[in-house]
Amino acid sequence: MNLKTISILGATGSIGCSTIAIIREINKKPNSDVKYELKAITANNNVDDLIKIAIEFKPEFVAIADEEKYSELKSALSPHGIKCGAGKGALLEAASIQSDMVMAAIVGFAGLMPTIKAVERGATILLANKECLVSAGDYFMQKAAQNAATILPVDSEHNAIFQVLNKKNVEKLILTASGGPFYNSTPEVIQNATPEQACKHPNWSMGQKISVDSATMMNKGLELIEACHLFKMPATKIDILIHPQSIVHSMVCYEDGSVLAQMGTPDMRIPISYCMAYPERINISTPRLSLADAPDLQFLKPDTQKFPALRIARDAAEQGGLASTLLNAANEVAVESFLNRKIKFFEIAAIVEDVLNSKFNFSSIDRADDYELIIDCDDAARRKALEFVAMRQMETGVVR
Ligand SMILES: NC(=O)c1ccc[n+]([C@@H]2O[C@H](COP(=O)([O-])OP(=O)(O)OC[C@H]3O[C@@H](n4cnc5c(N)ncnc54)[C@H](OP(=O)(O)O)[C@@H]3O)[C@@H](O)[C@H]2O)c1
Repeated sequence: MNLKTISILGATGSIGCSTIAIIREINKKPNSDVKYELKAITANNNVDDLIKIAIEFKPEFVAIADEEKYSELKSALSPHGIKCGAGKGALLEAASIQSDMVMAAIVGFAGLMPTIKAVERGATILLANKECLVSAGDYFMQKAAQNAATILPVDSEHNAIFQVLNKKNVEKLILTASGGPFYNSTPEVIQNATPEQACKHPNWSMGQKISVDSATMMNKGLELIEACHLFKMPATKIDILIHPQSIVHSMVCYEDGSVLAQMGTPDMRIPISYCMAYPERINISTPRLSLADAPDLQFLKPDTQKFPALRIARDAAEQGGLASTLLNAANEVAVESFLNRKIKFFEIAAIVEDVLNSKFNFSSIDRADDYELIIDCDDAARRKALEFVAMRQMETGVVR
């Protein structure tokens, strides 16, 4: 029997919980030829779920970002002999604990440094956190190469491409997109969409931030940038197709006219388990795809008038350098402001575009491979985005 060790950064989130569900299922199977041992787990402030996971799996180390939750965590875990810590340093410590693989499932830019820590010790990274690559793709991929860390894409589209990619003779990649909850909505509905409506994805169950990104279609823009870094393809060779059924997860087009697609039910346990077992596969209880019973598969061109985020992200991808660092930071601030009802749904993309059109004092926008520059850029974009949020609130005179 093969014992694999794994740590989960962002264990209490949607991807974290799906990963834990797989570990639980596989470890219970008497005849499984692989078992997983959880070495370290982290969360932001969901101390209750973190404690439950820790007591069930007895990892070596548990970290919580919110320092105010430390005493609660410590008093719950001490009787079980489980070590724990709090704050940013503790997240880095969790990522440093020796393990074969690390599930990088913290949402947003906050996931960058802990993931880099795991990269630096040459761990295999199961990369769910797309913001790492959007904001610091050159830096991240350089670090991975320097430390011989393997990066396995968890995002279902990139995982699909990874499964069917033969690096030679590729003409282009096609990322599919469900279109999110508002694809068929009128501009008026989109204009006034609430956080609850935006978070109600038709096909996938996900965390709040990625759900809003899917609704604006910024998610597909972030994925476009993610794909450029993962597969070393220029943005001009990556197309996006709306596929509302979310059955074809993405495609690779070859120079002889062949198109290879990966299909499956929309269940993140499929790409997660693929990465956990790579290069093997494991038998897990995901719903099986029955094409005979499936709805008709549709493929449509995206509407960038209705969903400007896609155009804005593609422009940033083509511009390269720090443009996508600005894009990511502005988007994180705008999405949070929307979730806190400070701005309207349509203002998310508008604020990101305003930030990208602003003047910044960066001496170089050539390559986003300098960590200090990335941090400065991220910080400046966040401050600028907050200014635009405040301006828009003043214009409308209300906190919605
Ligand atoms: N969900 C999906 O189906 C899916 C698919 C593809 C890619 N992804 C990507 O995977 C990542 C995670 O997505 P998700 O849907 O799982 O998100 P989620 O449900 O919101 O979970 C996020 C996780 O990160 C933790 N976290 C949040 N902010 C943090 C901070 N500042 N410092 C440390 N930890 C923090 C959360 O802890 P608390 O629980 O304590 O808040 C939670 O464990 C995102 O980058 C997303 O784009 C997700």
